[in-house]
Amino acid sequence: MGYTYHLPKERDPLGCNYIEWETEVIDFMEYRKNMKILVATEKPFAKKALDGITEILQAAGYEVALLEKYTEKEQLIEAVKDVDGLIVRSDKVTAEVIEAAEQLKIVVRAGAGFDNVDLEAASARDIVVMNTPGQNSNAVAELALAMMIYMSRNRFTPGTGMELLGKTVGIHAYGNVGRLVARKAKALGMNVIAYDPFVTDNALFENDGVEQVGTIEELYAGSDFLSLHIPATDATRKSIGYKLMMSMPKGATLVNTARKEVIDEIGLEAAMTERTDLKYVTDIAPDDVATMTAMFGNRFFATPKKMGAETAEANINAGLAAARQIVGYFEKGECRFQVNKKPCGCK
Ligand code: 3PG
Repeated sequence: MGYTYHLPKERDPLGCNYIEWETEVIDFMEYRKNMKILVATEKPFAKKALDGITEILQAAGYEVALLEKYTEKEQLIEAVKDVDGLIVRSDKVTAEVIEAAEQLKIVVRAGAGFDNVDLEAASARDIVVMNTPGQNSNAVAELALAMMIYMSRNRFTPGTGMELLGKTVGIHAYGNVGRLVARKAKALGMNVIAYDPFVTDNALFENDGVEQVGTIEELYAGSDFLSLHIPATDATRKSIGYKLMMSMPKGATLVNTARKEVIDEIGLEAAMTERTDLKYVTDIAPDDVATMTAMFGNRFFATPKKMGAETAEANINAGLAAARQIVGYFEKGECRFQVNKKPCGCK
C-alpha cells in the first residue's frame, strides 16, 4: 500500500514550525515490518494491559519488545537502541536515553505527567512525545479519597477519628484528577473549593457545585483537606511549604497524589513540627521519608511505592490508549496528545 509521508525538512527561523517538507511515497506494509516498539516499564503494566498493548501493535504490523522491572538506566539505554517507538510510565526518558535511541520517532507516556521525559532533547530530534490524559485519573482520584479517610481514622489504629462529612476539601488544580476528586468528595457530603488559574471556564466549577477561590492562599486557608494535583514544572517545584501549611485550619491534612517535587520538604517539616495538628499523606515518598516517619508518627504516611495509577483498569486504559496513539501517529499522523513542539500537518 502506497502512503504519502511528509517528512520535515526545514524549520522556521524561530524553530517552532516546519516550513519545508519532503514528500515520499512509502509502502507502509513493508516499512512497518521493520518497526519496533518498546514497552519499557520499571513498574510493569497489569498482564491484561500488556496483552492488549501487544495485540494492538502486532495487529498493526509492528514488532513489540518488552523491558520490565529494570533496575539500571543502562538497561533502558541498551533496549532503546533499535526502536522506532517507546511506551513508558514514570520511566526516565533522559537526553542520554534519547541520544541512544537513534531510530526513535515517538514516545508515549502512558499516563498524565510527562515530567519524566526530556522534551527538549526529544524536540531537538523531532521525536513526538505524547501522554494519555484522563486514562488513569479515576484510579488516582479514588486513592486521594482513600488517603483522606485513612488519615482521618488515625491510619486505622485505635482512637477517635474524624468524618469527612461536612468538611471542606480544597482542590489544587482542576484537571482530570482534581475534577474527579471534587465529584467524589461531593458525593461524600464534603464542601469543595478549588483553585486553578488555568481554567477560564467558570461553568466547569459551577456544574460540579464547586466554589472557585481566587488565590492559592485562600484555598489552603479554607481547606480541612487539601488535594494536590499540580504538575511538577519549573514554576511549581517546591512551591508548597511552610507558609501554606501554616495557614491551614486546625487538624488539616495535605494529600499528595501529584509529585514529590512540588513540596518544599524543609518547610513542610518545619510547619508540622510547629503545628502538631497538621498531617501529610503522600503517594510519592519524600526524600526525607525516614526522618518524617520518625518525627511525625501517625500524622505522616507515604505509600511504599507510587500506587495512584496501579489498578488494572488504569493500566488497561492508559496502556491501550498509548498503543493506539502510536498506531494513529504512524498511520494517520495523529498527534492530538502531543506535549512537545508540534510539527505542522499534525491532526
Ligand atoms: C501519572 O502521571 O499518570 C501518574 O502519576 C501515574 O504514574 P505511573 O504510571 O508511574 O504510576
